[in-house]
Amino acid sequence: MNLPKGTVPLSLPPGPSAPRALQTARWIARPAAFMEDAQRRYGDMFTLKIANEGTWVFISDPDAVKQVFTGDPRLLHAGEANIVLLPVLGSHSVLLLDDDEHMAQRKLMLPSFHGERMRSYEDTMADVAGREIARWPAGEPLPAWPTMQAITLEVIMRTVFGVQDSERLERLGNVLRDTLAFAAQPRRMALLAVLGPRRVAKLGLIRSVLEPADKLIYEEIDIRRGAPDLADRTDVLSLLLQARHEDGTEMTNEELRDELMTLLVAGHETSATALAWALDALTHHPHVLARLRDEIDSGDDTYLDAVVKETLRLRPVIALVLRRLVEPMEIGGRTLPAGVNLAPCIYLLHRRADVYDDPRAFRPERFLEKPPGTYTWIPFGGGVRRCLGASFAQFEMKVVLRELVARLDIRAARADPERRIRRAIVFAPARGGEIVVERRSRSTHALAA
Ligand code: HEM
Repeated sequence: MNLPKGTVPLSLPPGPSAPRALQTARWIARPAAFMEDAQRRYGDMFTLKIANEGTWVFISDPDAVKQVFTGDPRLLHAGEANIVLLPVLGSHSVLLLDDDEHMAQRKLMLPSFHGERMRSYEDTMADVAGREIARWPAGEPLPAWPTMQAITLEVIMRTVFGVQDSERLERLGNVLRDTLAFAAQPRRMALLAVLGPRRVAKLGLIRSVLEPADKLIYEEIDIRRGAPDLADRTDVLSLLLQARHEDGTEMTNEELRDELMTLLVAGHETSATALAWALDALTHHPHVLARLRDEIDSGDDTYLDAVVKETLRLRPVIALVLRRLVEPMEIGGRTLPAGVNLAPCIYLLHRRADVYDDPRAFRPERFLEKPPGTYTWIPFGGGVRRCLGASFAQFEMKVVLRELVARLDIRAARADPERRIRRAIVFAPARGGEIVVERRSRSTHALAA
């Protein structure tokens, strides 16, 4: 083909030649091995073909990742790439929008997630964690994940939805758990893929599943709109009720419902899984656990912060983020065609030996020596799509781990660290972070504080 003078030919980076179905099967069965293998063979940029997902161009070079995160968001659509979540999250969800609509919604939500604001949630997070930890049976191997999930769900219901009343908390907790369990079933996701999320949403095919949760959420919004103490409240729903669009209008009930559901789906399982990975890593590295415990007992959170960052580096919950290319764009020295999904790969970037010494080792000290880089530590993605809950999640992980280590002796249930499995969109420990706990006998500074 003859190209006009000065035109750079469009090309996809190399990748496996196996048929799409086979590549999809490998991606589903062993995603980490598949990615590492492809990187070894084809380098920092390679192409995979995944059924229903189109073409993914993996990117793990920090400069190329920076190009994607700082590129024009009008040409790099993240919302479009998340469209499979439309029937559950709804059409106003910040996760699903692009361009001006996305920025407008994100601006309304950002102030509620500002790092400093998280401190007002500390007591709630510690109380919820303390109660769940107290129920943990001592002396038997148990997966940490269900307890972590119970904690992160209640924390979201209290701090994001702002529900305090115990009877309402229980009712809401039950219906949200059912809704989330439905959304996590692979068979349901297959239905979404076959029919297409837009059709499923339009036909209301899963309306009956969402109805009980929606009813309670709309009730909560109504009660809160009329709450006399709205201006003094610190929960996210109350803040969003006071936020205004640029034209001065309030958020509608539908917008509020869609954003609450988005925060629940984006923030609940991710945080619980990250906590389960932290416990798996800590119990398989007793010297790290011993140092963490000493520092927590002395009231210093610096090492705790490094433990959280190292967990999110080595065991990222989300392996990659996606941007659909609207027009051809030059990335990493290659002009990529419109329509492909760029996939800055968190998993591969976090394991680069030229960025991290001994990258496969769990060594929180590395973050005491050098702070994480904006384009080399990306567990929360980046640019105008960076996770809105990044401060919330890290703060919550620290509070929960502090309570846990201060109150319990923990040890690994088995000698080998856990394998990674894919659950919906997260990379989770296969046995759920199996540990054995014993109550600590001596009281600690952390508990007294
Ligand atoms: C360890 C826990 C978490 C991890 C690893 C995580 C990771 C991510 C990632 C990778 C993205 C996509 C970023 C991108 O495309 O560049 C994202 C987006 C998002 N996350 Fe999180 N997240 C976590 C917890 C939370 C929490 C607790 C909340 C809220 C309560 C939350 C709310 C969101 C929202 C609203 C978005 C969409 C942002 C946008 O499109 O503008 N996340 N998260």
